[in-house]
Amino acid sequence: MLRQASVVHYLTRKGYLHLAERCGVRFPACTLPRFTCVGITTRSTMSGSCTNSSDMKSEVEANLDLSKLRYSMVWEDAVMLSEALDIKDTDTILSITSSGDNVLHMLLGKPKKIFAVDFSPTQNAVLHLKIAAIKELTREEAIKLMGYLGTPDERLALLKKLKTLPDHAKGILVTQLADGIAKGLALNGLLEGSIAKLRQACQDGKGTQNMKDFLNASTPQARLEILHSWPLERIFNGHRETCNALADHGRDSAQFKYVHLSANQYGVALATRLSKWFLQEASMCRDNHYLSAFLLGLEGICEIPMEEIDQHLPFYLHRGNFEALKDLVDRVEVYSGSIEDKLGGEFVFDKANLSDIFEYMSIEAAHVLMNRLTKSCSVGGRIAMWNLLCARHPPSKPDCGGRYLQLLGGLSAKLSAQDRVPFYQDFFVCECQESS
Ligand SMILES: C[S@@+](CC[C@H](N)C(=O)[O-])C[C@H]1O[C@@H](n2cnc3c(N)ncnc32)[C@H](O)[C@@H]1O
Repeated sequence: MLRQASVVHYLTRKGYLHLAERCGVRFPACTLPRFTCVGITTRSTMSGSCTNSSDMKSEVEANLDLSKLRYSMVWEDAVMLSEALDIKDTDTILSITSSGDNVLHMLLGKPKKIFAVDFSPTQNAVLHLKIAAIKELTREEAIKLMGYLGTPDERLALLKKLKTLPDHAKGILVTQLADGIAKGLALNGLLEGSIAKLRQACQDGKGTQNMKDFLNASTPQARLEILHSWPLERIFNGHRETCNALADHGRDSAQFKYVHLSANQYGVALATRLSKWFLQEASMCRDNHYLSAFLLGLEGICEIPMEEIDQHLPFYLHRGNFEALKDLVDRVEVYSGSIEDKLGGEFVFDKANLSDIFEYMSIEAAHVLMNRLTKSCSVGGRIAMWNLLCARHPPSKPDCGGRYLQLLGGLSAKLSAQDRVPFYQDFFVCECQESS
């Protein structure tokens, strides 16, 4: 099994070649770095004094088209996140919305309150849709509304039926996202669209069966044999545009401003991470709806009999969870604006899920934001964050208002090793502690 040895895992040129060989990919020697950290060129640690920039604005917010739906599911492991934050019933949680799945998963830990924050009203509208579905629909209807069952007309009728959607969210869903809802919103964001292109290239005209065989294979060796039959070399090497589609369409160029990777390095990093994911032990592939979404897509999941579908669905749609969430969704408050704006004033929180937002800003700006977060976090509180393509780390010389963020290195590494979406180069969980 390919395991992440430490929080930041470095790969030598030899390591790349080994992984590439394991997934049947050949790279021309000139595309391989001599020594590199997967996806990044240097490790940079945020350090320095506590800056009090309460008027800090989000740079990326101003440069993004916020009307686009980028993700309709969250591709960050919800189980790992909830375990990292060790949610208690007294907790106030601050969370990036994305498309709401991890907000709903954290809610199962019964915290006092969750503030779901996203500067994209479109992403927030998707969370509102999921909340209204949980409140008002049966589980089967919600599964239908999201596109895993039923017809476009049935989905639009269910959307119309929802009474508790806030007007602004309903406006976005009806005007911008109705087409996506009719087709099945579950895997219909830009990122899911570019993943679908990658999947179709792997299927090579053979439909979803070879992907199902792959998912059902019981050992990495069996999976490796199937993987060899996929035209990965062509996808990752000859046809760089296919893997670059993830960059071009899933993420806006504004989200790449601080990513310093060439197209080749990006292709290599992507191939390496995908092979690591695909070649995990069977136990890591089972009950992994992220892998199902990647390999089967909505089309493949829709072919699975209803009795077996649970393990291919996001957690909020699982039988027990859906019912439990009905009593909890009123604890979520959705805020359309940036984390930077939300931290103004007296706002305090105990736990935070910050996704990989620090990648969209300079190291200095990330440092300032980290310090502001430390000030607003209760002592003993925790903050979780990911890195996808940039190195952003918790402060090394922290002291902010008598407290600092202590990296929980052992826990971060342990959870990273269990990651259901081992796409990310780092996952960190830090605890807010008092300076002595
Ligand atoms: C950080 S993105 C990450 C998604 C995925 N992990 C990726 O790498 O593409 C998730 C969400 O964060 C939102 N977001 C990013 N920076 C933000 C900020 N400073 N304040 C509020 N929302 C932010 C985006 O609109 C998006 O919906």
